[in-house]
Amino acid sequence: MRISVVGTGHVGLTTAVCLASIGHEVLGVDEDAGKIGLISEGKVPFHEPGLQEMLRQEFALGRMRVSTDVSDAARQRDVIFICVGTPTGQGGETDLTQVERVTRTIANALDGYSVITEKSTVPVGTGQAIQRTMREAASPNAEFDVASNPEFLQEGRAIADTLQPSRIVVGTSSERAEQSLREVYRPIVEQGNATFVATDIATAEMIKHASNALLATRISFMNQVAELCERANADVEVVAHAMGLDPRIGPHFLKAGIGYGGACFPKDVQAFRITAEQHGVDMSLLSEVEKVNTGRKQRFVDKVRAALGSLEDKRIAVWGLSFKPDTDDIRGSPAVEIARRLSTSGAFVTAYDPVAMDTARALLPNVDMAADPLEAAKDANCVAICTEWPEFAEVDLNALREVMARPVIVDGRNALDPRAAYNAGFLYISTGRPMVMGVVPGDDA
Ligand code: UGA
Repeated sequence: MRISVVGTGHVGLTTAVCLASIGHEVLGVDEDAGKIGLISEGKVPFHEPGLQEMLRQEFALGRMRVSTDVSDAARQRDVIFICVGTPTGQGGETDLTQVERVTRTIANALDGYSVITEKSTVPVGTGQAIQRTMREAASPNAEFDVASNPEFLQEGRAIADTLQPSRIVVGTSSERAEQSLREVYRPIVEQGNATFVATDIATAEMIKHASNALLATRISFMNQVAELCERANADVEVVAHAMGLDPRIGPHFLKAGIGYGGACFPKDVQAFRITAEQHGVDMSLLSEVEKVNTGRKQRFVDKVRAALGSLEDKRIAVWGLSFKPDTDDIRGSPAVEIARRLSTSGAFVTAYDPVAMDTARALLPNVDMAADPLEAAKDANCVAICTEWPEFAEVDLNALREVMARPVIVDGRNALDPRAAYNAGFLYISTGRPMVMGVVPGDDA
């Protein structure tokens, strides 16, 4: 099929490349000439494992090309995916300016039949607004249907989530549009275990926001459980494991830490709550979810302070800056906020992250960056672990103790094994695990 994807951010570029890889002819469009310049050279402008190789392959096979002209995206395409940014507006609601602008341009240039498919995360009702704009601005030769096809990919595993998804949700108001989108995803559905959920547009939009809000709720809930575990000498890791064995609960998104971040959860939880308010529904449950999440960062800073007596003039190594491993994305990253708070509280902070330091530098002018975890920890009074990059668990703890001024680790992500840290002589304070110097759960010695 002939497909265009407008917006080549994480969702758009991954969608474009993956749809090309299953045999479609794909045009990726972005108004940002710098971004399109990079992509046309075969470079992915963000860190996503495997995507660059796939992009180059699809260029070589001639199944994908890129352009900066949004009108191009509207010419003779079976399906047009809108994947532009939907940032937070001034009152916390979703700012749909980019969606509206792109829709208008597509409407003006549309020639023949196309399914205008909203993929970026939007509040319920956006499909209707797109439909209105299309009707207002469409050229006389234009024929169209509007659809919602929310994206569920996680950064860091975007290709697998796109090509082997658990579900594909498609909301349409016509049989013709549904058939077109079934055809787009046919190779994925035939080869994998994805359930194709065909529904109306409002329901599709709701599924996306409700999914992210529930996942965020689980995280905040477990973060509160972790806090209780710390007071009651219980182990949140074992609690989460055993809870997850119940098939009604399941094992995922039960990991306690320093709070959820990223470009999606913080924004989507807020937008969903506000959408509910606009419809007269009290979703104050989500206010609590947000409150717990916001509080995690200061709580972690307070833990570091308590471990050191004070933060004034202390040297602190912050390990990890991205909002989670396997991405260089620092949007809404609790790690960045923690590094900033530590440094504004009087500490000298040196950070290390395998891929996110370049992007973080501008946001953290008073934080030094190091070439590796040990260099960051040199002469430090404390290592603060803020992102659970696998390499942190592989650091030689004896070598770490040797370079530090004091053997203290505060682990916001439970990235290390408490026994190993204890055996290496550390004061190791983790999250929701009953650990003080010399007392390891289950250790009889
Ligand atoms: C999230 C959703 O998982 C995707 O399904 C969705 O498509 C995407 O948002 C989106 O709306 O575009 P992503 O932002 O890539 O994906 O990140 P997640 O892997 O969901 O992690 C979000 C945050 O929650 C991270 O800061 C992570 O550290 C934190 N988290 C996650 C926890 O603290 N505990 C957990 O158990 C899981």
